[in-house]
Amino acid sequence: MTQYEAIFIRRSVREYDPAPLTIARLAKIQSVLDNVKQLPGPTARFEIVNADKLKGAAAPHAILVHCEDTDAAWFNAGYSLQAVDLYLQAEGLGSIWMGMAKPIYPSLDYRILLAFGQTNVPIRTEADFKRKDIT
Ligand SMILES: Cc1cc2nc3c(=O)[nH]c(=O)nc-3n(C[C@H](O)[C@H](O)[C@H](O)COP(=O)(O)O)c2cc1C
Repeated sequence: MTQYEAIFIRRSVREYDPAPLTIARLAKIQSVLDNVKQLPGPTARFEIVNADKLKGAAAPHAILVHCEDTDAAWFNAGYSLQAVDLYLQAEGLGSIWMGMAKPIYPSLDYRILLAFGQTNVPIRTEADFKRKDIT
């Protein structure tokens, strides 16, 4: 599945297999994070942590977002990490943005996280969407 195709079937996943991903798979995800496109202006730093460093998240891993607390920095963080959300879901993993979950030891520039891991929750089908007509 391409990341474009993932746009139409991605979903926020709240149930995970607690088993961690392999080191190789996590390294690949870190590489995607290191190379993800960021907008001109303040950049974000992305850090993968395991469940033992998190509270309030059911997933085995999460990507912590670090950036300055400005509109431009938040905008960039959302732009960049949403591309990674699509990458993860195109790879068959589950993911969810979480404002309620937190790292146990948040740094001063911690902003938000994207939890991720293996899941049995099925991808979306057309029938899952409840959208109003455009007209
Ligand atoms: C910035 C942001 C923070 C979010 N924080 C939480 C959260 O703390 N807990 C949660 O259950 N869902 C959280 N979500 C997920 C949304 O609730 C979810 O995107 C929404 O239910 C729509 O579902 P979908 O992503 O499957 O389309 C967050 C989403 C965003 C964009």
